[in-house]
Amino acid sequence: MPDLPSTLPPSGALLDWYDRHRRSMGWRGASDPYRIWVSEVMLQQTTVAAVGPRYERFLARFPTVRALAEAPWEEVAAEWAGLGYYARARNLHAAAKAVLGRGGFPETEAGLRDLPGIGAYTAAAVAAIAFGVPTVPVDGNVERVVSRVLAIREALPGARRIIAPAAARFMEQGAARGRPGDFAQALFDLGATICTPRRPACALCPWRGDCEAQRSGIQDGLPVKAPKTARGQRYGTHFLARDPAGRMLLRHRPPTGLLGGMLEIPGTPWTGAPPDDDAAMEHAPLPGLAWRALPGTARHGFTHMDVDMRLMAAEVPAGPAPEGFLWMEAAAARVALPTLMRRLLALADAAAPAAAGGGSAPGRRRPRAG
Ligand code: ADE
Repeated sequence: MPDLPSTLPPSGALLDWYDRHRRSMGWRGASDPYRIWVSEVMLQQTTVAAVGPRYERFLARFPTVRALAEAPWEEVAAEWAGLGYYARARNLHAAAKAVLGRGGFPETEAGLRDLPGIGAYTAAAVAAIAFGVPTVPVDGNVERVVSRVLAIREALPGARRIIAPAAARFMEQGAARGRPGDFAQALFDLGATICTPRRPACALCPWRGDCEAQRSGIQDGLPVKAPKTARGQRYGTHFLARDPAGRMLLRHRPPTGLLGGMLEIPGTPWTGAPPDDDAAMEHAPLPGLAWRALPGTARHGFTHMDVDMRLMAAEVPAGPAPEGFLWMEAAAARVALPTLMRRLLALADAAAPAAAGGGSAPGRRRPRAG
C-alpha cells in the first residue's frame, strides 16, 4: 500500500457545495428504496440525461416492487429494450421477486448484496441513499475524485484495492456520516461536473487547496489507467423468416449468459471467424428454405467485443412455429428485440423497406465504457 495523506479534504465543504449546486434528478429526494434501486441500476449503463425519461417511463409502468415482480418477463424486457445489458433487467426482475418474497428490501449493505445481481456498488448506493448507511459507493466518478484528492498514482483497475478503503475513510468524519446518501451523490456530482476526466475545473472545486493532485499539478493524469487489452471480434449469421403477414420467427436466448432470456432472430453462435454460408445454414430455424443473404453487415459493440452479423432472409408460408420458436408481429418484434437485433432488422429494411414492416432501426453505436 502506498502512503496516503493522513487527513482527508473536509466532507462538510463538499456537502455545502452540493446543497448549492446539486443536479436536479427525478430520483433525488425519493426515500423509496425501490425507486432509488431502479435509478442506480439504470445509471450504471446509461448517462444521466438518457436515463431521465426512461426512468419515469419504467416507474409509470412498474410503480412498485410488487408491480415489477408480478410482471411477465416479456414486459420487463420490452420496457428495457434499448437500455442495453439485459442481464441487468433480468436481475432487476429476479431481485424484485426476492424482495417481495422476503417482505421488503434488506436495509444493510450485506443484505442488499444477497439479492440477485446486486454488486458492491449498487448495494452501497442503495444502502447510503435509501437507508442512510454510512458507506461510500465507488463508481467511476468516485474513483477519479478520490484518486485525485489523495494523489493515488497506482493504475486502475489494481488501484481499486486502495481507492475503496480510502473512500470509506470519509465516513469517519462527522459531516459525511450524518448525510451518507447526500455525500455519495455529492461525490458523483463533483466527478460529473467539476472533477471531470479531462480539463477538471479545479478553480470551482470546493476541495481546491485540499487536493493533493492539484497541489502537485498532476490532476489531468489521474487516475492512471492500465493499457487496454484488445477487444475481441466475433462473427455470426442470423436468419429472418417472415410469413405472408410479415410476422417474424424468433426465439428466446438461453436464460443465462450474454443477453440472457432476450428475444433474438435465430442464428449461429458468435465465433472468432466469419461462418461460411453452408456451415451457417445448419443453424437455420427451418430447413429446406431458399435463404438469401442480404447486403451489408450489422455491427454491435459490447464492452468486451464487437460482433459483426450477416442476415439471411426467407419468406415462409403461414404455419405453426417449430418447437422452441415463436411467431411475432413485426411491430411487436421491433419493440421487444434488443438493440443489436434491431440493427439486423435495419439490413432487412434497407433490402426491402415495405416487406420489413416499417419502423426505424438504430444506427451503429459504440458501447459506453464500463
Ligand atoms: N450516478 C450513479 N448514481 C447516481 C446518482 N444517484 N446521482 C448522480 N449520478 C449518479
